[in-house]
Amino acid sequence: MEDRPITLSSTLPNTPASPEESNSVLHIWGGSPLSGHVTVSGAKNSALVIMAGALLCPQECRIRNVPFLVDVSRMGEIIASLGVRLERQADSLTMDASHIAQSKAPYELVSQLRASFFIIGPLLARLGVARIPLPGGCAIGARPVDLHVRGLQAMGADVQIDHGMVYANVRGAARRLQGARIYLDYPSVGATETLMMAATLADGETILENAAQEPEVVDLANFCRAMGARIRGAGTNTIVISGVPSLHTADYAIIPDRVEAGTFLVAGAITRSEISLAPVVPDHLTAVIAKLQAMGVQILMEGPNRLRVVSAQRPIATDIETLPYPGFPTDMQAQFMALLTLSEGDSVITETVFENRLRHVAELSRMGADIRVKGNHAIVRGVPLLSGAPVVATDLRASAALVLAGLAAQGQTTIQGLHHLDRGYENLDLKLQKLGARMLRTSGSADVDKVLTPH
Ligand code: EPZ
Repeated sequence: MEDRPITLSSTLPNTPASPEESNSVLHIWGGSPLSGHVTVSGAKNSALVIMAGALLCPQECRIRNVPFLVDVSRMGEIIASLGVRLERQADSLTMDASHIAQSKAPYELVSQLRASFFIIGPLLARLGVARIPLPGGCAIGARPVDLHVRGLQAMGADVQIDHGMVYANVRGAARRLQGARIYLDYPSVGATETLMMAATLADGETILENAAQEPEVVDLANFCRAMGARIRGAGTNTIVISGVPSLHTADYAIIPDRVEAGTFLVAGAITRSEISLAPVVPDHLTAVIAKLQAMGVQILMEGPNRLRVVSAQRPIATDIETLPYPGFPTDMQAQFMALLTLSEGDSVITETVFENRLRHVAELSRMGADIRVKGNHAIVRGVPLLSGAPVVATDLRASAALVLAGLAAQGQTTIQGLHHLDRGYENLDLKLQKLGARMLRTSGSADVDKVLTPH
């Protein structure tokens, strides 16, 4: 019997990691095959924007299948700071934005969560005014919001940026946004969502051209329609919103997280295992499944919302280029890079969405990967083995890539910077442990040797 670490707990906690837990270290002993079934949580990138969308509603709304993530907690703090009541019961969130006490979000909260900028559209639509700190950049890029701002200006908002603060006011006596025809220079997910939310209560029709088509955009549109918004074309590159005077209560369940699901598919592939996962929406994973199949990994449909990944041999190299949906998702690039480092042959990974999303290369190289970066391309030469090493996560999806590499590497990998991981994955370490991964999360200071009890 291999020396498997003690299992921390059989039931998964339903609270996001606390700050001290996020300062902890993840120890992974690679080489164990995985088996069993994993439950996929609700989509982070739906939950964050739909929480903002509930600000459009002057009545109570219930949002279900909300994941327990640090980012969701932070979004809740932002919304509560506006004087909006919200309550969490298990995986449901009840929000009552009947009265929004103020239109200014605090810098110390916004600076921790870029997605908090999503509240600008609903605040302008409801109150005609918003004061939002300019969201800073992050590890993966500058993350500008010019497309959001230009679109709101086209809808009749006066938007000034001064000393890092975005001051927005709706002109005119009625202080109501006006429908407009807006062409997005880039199919930005966030800009599409901001403008779609703003347009739900605008006077007249808004047409968003070259709009983002991500499933989370469709999820937001479906939530807004559940509140009585009139939206057509979500999921295509042209979305038409006809403004209504007000919205009403809704009870809405968000979609499963396609990036978490994709991460588990890669976990099965990189450990040459067989695991199943549900719920998933297979159509949201078309590009990811196609690439895994091109690498020789079997992906089986076990039901309308259940997949099984089967991998028994070394993956075959393939090229990846990240693109707006339905292209290959940038949020899966780091995870695929981890898998490609162990594949047969050479792969070229091209990151076209963010300007600085190859920072996981350095840490993967410390584990023995052979990767050369040239501009926004990473040339990955497959190696037969990775070796465990101490590594530091730089951003959310890079941290997932290091966990995946650690699962396959020979020996022990210790990962610091888990606060990145806890922003976007609900109990990833515990879910992997339940699949048989040999890993242990300890506080930064704990001495693992004393904790491990070999069986
Ligand atoms: C959303 O970010 C997601 N975040 C990201 O997920 C995801 O990677 C990204 O969409 C692309 O799919 C949330 O939904 C909370 P964009 P967003 O606007 O909206 C440029 C994760 O790991 N741009 O589509 O910020 C921008 O700089 C996160 O879960 C402008 O130039 O993405 C980037 O290069 C990471 N001006 C490109 O567009 C703007 O006004 C794509 O950004 C807006 C964006």
